[in-house]
This record gives sequence, C-alpha cells and structure tokens, in this order.
Amino acid sequence: MEIVAARRCYFVRVLIITGAGVSAESGIPTFRGKDGYWRNLDPIKLATPEAFASDPELVWEWYRERRHRIRDAQPNAAHEAIANLAQRSDEFLLVTQNVDDLHERAGLGRTEMVQIHGDIFKTRCSRCSFEQEHERDDGDCETLPRCPRCDALMRPGVVWFGEALPARETERVENYLQRDSCGIVIVVGTTATFGYIIHWALRASHLGGQLIEVNPEETPLSRFATQLVRERAAVALPRIVDQIARS
Ligand code: OAD
Repeated sequence: MEIVAARRCYFVRVLIITGAGVSAESGIPTFRGKDGYWRNLDPIKLATPEAFASDPELVWEWYRERRHRIRDAQPNAAHEAIANLAQRSDEFLLVTQNVDDLHERAGLGRTEMVQIHGDIFKTRCSRCSFEQEHERDDGDCETLPRCPRCDALMRPGVVWFGEALPARETERVENYLQRDSCGIVIVVGTTATFGYIIHWALRASHLGGQLIEVNPEETPLSRFATQLVRERAAVALPRIVDQIARS
C-alpha cells in the first residue's frame, strides 16, 4: 500500500490521534482489551468519580500499579515513528487519550502534544485547584494522599468517565484545528468511542486531507477513513512515516 502525502506547496500539516492501542506493544494493557481487567475489575468502572467516592483506596491502588507498570515500560516503534514524523512536519499536533508518558519519552515535545485525558503522573485535589507533578521515583506511599491546602483527598490527574475534558487542553486542539486543515490525519489504536475523537479527525481532514486509521480492528471511524491499515501500530507506523517522508 502506498501512502501519498497530501502536500500543498511543500507544506505538511499533520494531526495524529492516539489511544491505548499505541502503547499496547509496550506492555500497557488497553482499556477494553482482554488484559485490561485488574483483579477481575472492569477499568471502565474503576475510572469513574463514583468508584473513587465509594472506594478511594482501591482506585488509588489501581493507579499506583499502573504508574509502576508505565515507569517500567519503554516507548515502542510506534511512539518513535510519531516523534520522527513531528520533526519532519511543518506543523504537527498529537492528541493522545493516553495518560502515560511514552510519547514524551520517545522524544515528542510537550508543545507538540495534548494529553486530552490527563496525565497519570500528576496528582490533584478532588476539591480545590491544587495540583502537583508526581515524583516519578517516589515510594508511592500507602496512605491516601491529602491536599496540603484544604485537606480533601488528592486524586490522579486524569479525566474519568462522565467528567468534562480539561478546558486548556481542549482549547489547544481547537486552536490548531481552527488555524488550517491538515493534509495528513492518522488515528491510531483507539476504539474512537468518544464523539470528539471522530469529530476532530473529520474536521482536520475535511478539505481533502488523508485520514488514515491504524487499528487491527474496525471502529466507528473506519467508514470515514481514506486508508485503513489493519495492522499493529509498531509494525505499521514506521512504514507509514517512512512513506510520507519519501513522498
Ligand atoms: P481502548 O482500550 O478502548 O481501545 C484500544 C484500541 O486499540 C482498540 O480499538 C484495539 O483494536 C486497538 N489496538 C489494540 N492493540 C493494538 C496495536 N498493537 N496497534 C494498534 N491498535 C491496537 O482504548 P482507547 O480507545 O484509547 O478514557 O480508549 C479511549 C478512552 O476510553 C481512554 O482514554 C479512557 C477509556 O476509558 C478515560 O479514562 C476518560
């Protein structure tokens, strides 16, 4: 399959959207995949304000284990290919639903990416606006963390089901999409269950840009894609980026 870059006047504007599938080959379980369950508990039910309100210890334990697993993981060839494409593009934005730091560790700058569902290494107050960057090599204390300002429970700095997206991050995506359309849009490793993911992908590509989906399985976005790549991300993305760079 040949991917032809939609260049206008030698200018390549790129939007990439990633989901849990891009980190699957780094050993991070996806949400809806068979390895996603933790102690027989459904992550879709654990990642909710209701679960935190009824059992904060359990939810924190799950997040601490996930933090450990992410710290021990390494970026894979898909993360690296995306960082490589960022360097070759005139304008680039990655919107990731992943709360891990693997895109960043593969070399992508913070200004080139938006973590639309938050950052697992941040901790914020469940009541006031206090937030802290989590020390990546801390001991992950066993007791429940409390806010130094108001003493309410601290929570992971991620977006849970039913919660609004962070306004500042949404604004960064909106600004990027408003400025111009994209010649290349690649959506990788997401079930695209949220309407805004499909909406952003379609909006970015609506003036004739390519919309490439990389996912071994069909998703609600598949029928809109101009290219369907039914392969694993770490296999497909290095080749796709190479083809874009050569075109
Ligand atoms: P999911 O777990 O829903 O979906 C993972 C997707 O990755 C599926 O479509 C798989 O087919 C695909 N996949 C699996 N392995 C892959 C591989 N090696 N290469 C490419 N694709 C692969 O994860 P997300 O779509 O990211 O939100 O989930 C979206 C959001 O729902 C998450 O950010 C989280 C979750 O609940 C919140 O917590 C708010």
